[in-house]
Amino acid sequence: MILTDLRTQNSGRQYLPQPTTERTSQSPNQELLPLTARVNSRDCLEIGGCDLITLVEQYGSPLYILDEFTLRTACRQYREGFKQYYSGESQVIYASKAWSCLAVCSIVVSEGLGFDVVSGGELYTTLQALEKMGLGEKAGEKIYFHGNNKAVDELEYAIAIGCTIIVDNWLELETLVKLCTMVHKNSIKIMLRLTPGIECHTHEYIRTGHLDSKFGFDPNQIEKVLAYVSQHEQLDFIGLHAHIGSQIFERQPHQDLAGVLVEWMKKAGECGLSVRELNIGGGLGICYTEADDPPSIEEWVKAAAQAVEKACQIHQLPLPKLIAEPGRSLIGSACVTAYTIGSRKEIPGIRTYVAIDGGMSDNPRPITYQSVYRTVVANRMSASCEEIVTIAGKHCESGDILIKDARLPQTQPGDILVVMATGAYNYSMASNYNRLPRPAAVVVNEGEANLILERETYEDLIRSDRLPTRLTNLSS
Ligand SMILES: Cc1ncc(COP(=O)(O)O)c(C=O)c1O
Repeated sequence: MILTDLRTQNSGRQYLPQPTTERTSQSPNQELLPLTARVNSRDCLEIGGCDLITLVEQYGSPLYILDEFTLRTACRQYREGFKQYYSGESQVIYASKAWSCLAVCSIVVSEGLGFDVVSGGELYTTLQALEKMGLGEKAGEKIYFHGNNKAVDELEYAIAIGCTIIVDNWLELETLVKLCTMVHKNSIKIMLRLTPGIECHTHEYIRTGHLDSKFGFDPNQIEKVLAYVSQHEQLDFIGLHAHIGSQIFERQPHQDLAGVLVEWMKKAGECGLSVRELNIGGGLGICYTEADDPPSIEEWVKAAAQAVEKACQIHQLPLPKLIAEPGRSLIGSACVTAYTIGSRKEIPGIRTYVAIDGGMSDNPRPITYQSVYRTVVANRMSASCEEIVTIAGKHCESGDILIKDARLPQTQPGDILVVMATGAYNYSMASNYNRLPRPAAVVVNEGEANLILERETYEDLIRSDRLPTRLTNLSS
């Protein structure tokens, strides 16, 4: 682990990025800051060669700052890991729910990854990115469509593009058979998602592999589902899928999953169905604090890939194409959010609140999952931590607390507070609560910053608003 200076969260200094020449071998998911983070001669935090204070002056705050190098490094480590540790074919697909936008999808596809999408909107965004990259023709082979309640028009959209559909339930299976006949397709590529009954130690809202989950077929019905699929030639069965949860630090659950999936592969064979692809989902955790200790991307890939190979050997099955669909561990550590500090409320003997210009609308994870984050004052990186404060968002909600008990230097209004590891499930879960426009995002690389998401305006906020005709008539 390269978290050497995280001790500083408990000592007098702020977290400082480690100078290193080995950036490509660091596993991004084990770092709190993007791999290119450093402190510059102005004592300010720099990422991707860009001074964060200058970025805020230019683009305003709150601001998501995405480091291209870190994202690309994570993509490569996954891709190369599977090449190294799996003898069969493999494909890494990005769980785009982590952060879906044109720029992110374009970077990810340029690294050779495919996509997991869970809605018509994610499908549309991914497709637009592929088309802009001249890869529109390949969309069908690159995109896997998930979801526990896909609408008929979403299914039709995915079928028209030729995506593989990861079927979640009986209604969907039956709908696909009907749609195939209606849209005159010979067959539709499908995988079956099953609930593997594997428990892992993560927040209950992001746990999906236990039997009491809304996702996937009940494994007790596997024979029935496989029999149905084998009897319907409209369904081109590609393989099996399971995802056990997110922010997982142990390797064992995915090794267990490999065993379960390969046993199901055997059952599929007994029903005359050959599993060409096996999808082990995502779930590798990242560091949000110094206490977090996930395996590196390479270690995770090695454990999962070797477990699949071993299980296939035991059951004497040919190696399927192995698919993994990480989200958080690809992009989580590649981004930080910069805020401007505003008001302060001191309650002697109880707590000091320091307020920022964003909060639960740009990062809903603390209020949703009680997630914990680390932060630094980016315009005075070498300042000593002198107090413990609570970072409050600006929303009209007592629970809008971004960080409880953050160790920080004395702050003043106008200081720039940087919250680390905000690349996953922040922008993608952002809302306009209290009618706050969503922040801008920039991608930084080798000293250059590019705007990838414009800051929303007040006009954007009412763009879809309509007055009922009765009221419009009254005013005229
Ligand atoms: C089906 C599926 N695949 C992949 C992922 C990505 O998980 P993670 O971001 O933890 O890698 C998720 C997220 O929960 C998911 O539901």
